[in-house]
Amino acid sequence: MEFTLFLAALALFQPIVYGAPTQAVNSLHPEILAAMKRDLGLDAEQAHVRVARELQATEVIEQLRTLAGNSFGGAWLVDGELNVAVTDEALASEVTAAGATPLVVSNSLSKLEEAKEALDNLDIKQTKRLEATGIAAYYVDFAANKLVLEALSGSTAQAEDLAKQVGLVESEFEVRTVKELPSTFVTVRGGDPYYINNSARCSVGFSVTTGFVSAGHCGSAGDSATTSSGVALGTFSGSVFPGSGDYSYIRGSSGNTFSGTINNYSGGTITVSGSTASAVGASICRSGSTTGVFCGTVRALGATVSYSQGRVTGLTQTNVCAEPGDSGGSFYSGAQAQGVTSGGSGDCTSGGTTYFQPVNEILSAYSLTLARG
Ligand SMILES: *[C@@H]1O[C@H](CO)[C@@H](O)[C@H](O)[C@H]1NC(C)=O
Ligand SMILES: *[C@@H]1O[C@H](CO)[C@@H](O)[C@H](O)[C@H]1NC(C)=O
Repeated sequence: MEFTLFLAALALFQPIVYGAPTQAVNSLHPEILAAMKRDLGLDAEQAHVRVARELQATEVIEQLRTLAGNSFGGAWLVDGELNVAVTDEALASEVTAAGATPLVVSNSLSKLEEAKEALDNLDIKQTKRLEATGIAAYYVDFAANKLVLEALSGSTAQAEDLAKQVGLVESEFEVRTVKELPSTFVTVRGGDPYYINNSARCSVGFSVTTGFVSAGHCGSAGDSATTSSGVALGTFSGSVFPGSGDYSYIRGSSGNTFSGTINNYSGGTITVSGSTASAVGASICRSGSTTGVFCGTVRALGATVSYSQGRVTGLTQTNVCAEPGDSGGSFYSGAQAQGVTSGGSGDCTSGGTTYFQPVNEILSAYSLTLARG
């Protein structure tokens, strides 16, 4: 009875048949056409036909979803052909009549989506639980007719446990291994703040092509570097402090942009174009996440400095002020990178003495290439 009612309603809307002759959309922007040619290998006519058909598919899918109700199993396109899964074999002819290819599956979409919502609720109740278990993402894969959980290789067992916790059996989920957890796309500039193991704050020195450099006392190999909101920037790959220097290299996580610029803390950036070291007496500026930008002059090269943690050799002395949190931040003269903020005395109210670790020693220690803007 209900079934006939649906059909009647559908007839009123004049069901669209997928694959029927259709007027091509001919309003695609030239830039979109160029990108579709580059990435999908479609010429202008093919791109127009494809976009028109895909738009039409969305309407056919909506109609079949309504028609199938709880028997709907999902829909997807394969090379422009529309596949529609249903759990009730009797509906296959309706799918064919709409111009799509029917597939009879055992799991309804609503059942898989309920399991996904149950996972969402687990996540909300237990903050950071899923990241902590190494789960990158989970979603219903229509073509696989399963809930897919993507996990790091060490976390596949936890992913299986979670799927079972929300009531799924083996045939209803699949665990896929991914190499790394996702991150958002952050642009990292010299002077920007970053957090070590989500607690102490330092500043970025300079971007290199594979991450960034900073001070060694900011973190040790294995420590994480994140933004204030916890987005992964990278992991400390190497670090020296005290002793022959105060420097570190943070290998960047994919997805982030390591920009050859320095935050000027007045709404703009300074472009880094090289790393020629300045002479004694030269003007020099520093950018850091506590105090912003301050300038002064170079006072001495190759200074040995006594910190409470031990002696550090090879630092440059300046009369530029700095404060806690500016550590690791960029020293630069004009567009030339000079070094990363180490330590010193005083503050930016009464003035101070600050030492920096020359950047060229860091680049050669880890064979890094400075990012240039
Ligand atoms: C940061 O976290 C890593 C990994 O959990 C740990 O090995 C390291 O000791 C932590 N470092 C600090 C400074 O707490
Ligand atoms: C910082 O950059 C902005 C934007 O380019 C510019 O307007 C401003 O003058 C710069 N400030 C300093 C102090 O360099």
